[in-house]
Amino acid sequence: MKVDNFRLKLGAREYVPIIIGGMGVNISTTELALAAEKLGGIGHISDAETGYVCDRIFNTSFVSTKRKRYAAFTDSRDKSEVKFDLGEVAEAQKRYIEHTVSQKTGNGLIFLNCMEKLTMNGANETLKVRLRSAMDAGIDGITLAAGLNLRTLDLIQDHPRFRDVKIGIVISSVRALSIFMKRAVRLERLPDYIVVEGPLAGGHLGFGPDDWKKFDLHTIFTEVLAFIKEEGLQIPVIPAGGIFTGTDAAQYMAEGAGAVQVATRFTITAEAGLPANVKQEYLNAREEDIVVNMASTTGYPMRMLRQSPTLRYAIKPNCEGLGYLLENGGKCTYIDAYHKALEERRPGEPLEVEEKTCLCTGMAKYDCWTCGHTTYRLKETTNRMADGTWQLPPAEDIFLDYQHSQDHSIRLPKHPEGR
Ligand SMILES: Cc1cc2nc3c(=O)[nH]c(=O)nc-3n(C[C@H](O)[C@H](O)[C@H](O)COP(=O)(O)O)c2cc1C
Repeated sequence: MKVDNFRLKLGAREYVPIIIGGMGVNISTTELALAAEKLGGIGHISDAETGYVCDRIFNTSFVSTKRKRYAAFTDSRDKSEVKFDLGEVAEAQKRYIEHTVSQKTGNGLIFLNCMEKLTMNGANETLKVRLRSAMDAGIDGITLAAGLNLRTLDLIQDHPRFRDVKIGIVISSVRALSIFMKRAVRLERLPDYIVVEGPLAGGHLGFGPDDWKKFDLHTIFTEVLAFIKEEGLQIPVIPAGGIFTGTDAAQYMAEGAGAVQVATRFTITAEAGLPANVKQEYLNAREEDIVVNMASTTGYPMRMLRQSPTLRYAIKPNCEGLGYLLENGGKCTYIDAYHKALEERRPGEPLEVEEKTCLCTGMAKYDCWTCGHTTYRLKETTNRMADGTWQLPPAEDIFLDYQHSQDHSIRLPKHPEGR
């Protein structure tokens, strides 16, 4: 039994049922998404911190322009005035997405992972611009993730592509799904696919900080499948989180999954955005290095390597330039934690900010090493070189291994040292 025996049906077309999940900030790069698209599957780019990502790719100056505009607020704890210019948000979004979709060469699709928890000190208006510009720019689909916003569909319902763009949601319980579905039914716009993300995924988790261990993907997946059946719907259900081998994936397909969404195995590929030295950290990780904590300012638990530099960060908040996680009214728990630490610091002591991390800067600089639970198994998937470092395989090899492998075997990439 292998994944290649199955196909994902979306509308009138069929795809290889492997979706590379969105990984912000720019870990799931254009190149990684295109690798899946080329092979007939689906790749995600993420719309987290798009202005910053554009500056890196195209040498634009979205971040420095915003920083200059709000320079007067640098030392202020009150960031309520630090807003995004909606024209600039749209421009960055369009530029990044057009750059990606214009390079498609295969029969697959490029989706956008839209992190709804990116509140940008103006949650609704910025989300609206992000979604609409993505549709204008020709994105094939939008996956609504991290922070279910029941009004999201309303923000785009008058867009000409509302019924043609694929829309999916990421949920971690039947309860969250049924709440979303009520609104979707009212708008006569049901999701085209449902990603069920279990507690072993990377990034933010849709569970409580203490209860994620009590849940497992297989149970939630089965419950969601039953719910969809009871409702008489035919929406592909796509499990995600901890699917490590092609056989894990094929088992879900045999049980009725429409496709699988995978990410961790692609974090160490040549195309993924993490710097090469960080990929080596992922490869060297042991199970005890992988922790779930509440350091993220979003209020959701997040999984990361305990070696993440952000866990020792005591940097000044950079909301003037970034500010992607400012809640409406300009609040962020890191700003509070930082100022509290400043006030409590004794003369001569280093500044230590406990509990919270500056996620905007940490993710932008690849200093927050968020990862899936199975990261400690990545060493099973590639070759060790004579100098002790690990080979960083092409994404195509990992994709094809998911598609064709059997009996839990993992095909290693061709050894560059010819062994
Ligand atoms: C490094 C990393 C970053 C991630 N970032 C995001 C993100 O920004 N938004 C999101 O919805 N999911 C994110 N995820 C979750 C993935 O899209 C995916 O659903 C999940 O990790 C799949 O499980 P696996 O990593 O065990 O294969 C991330 C996962 C990883 C490994």
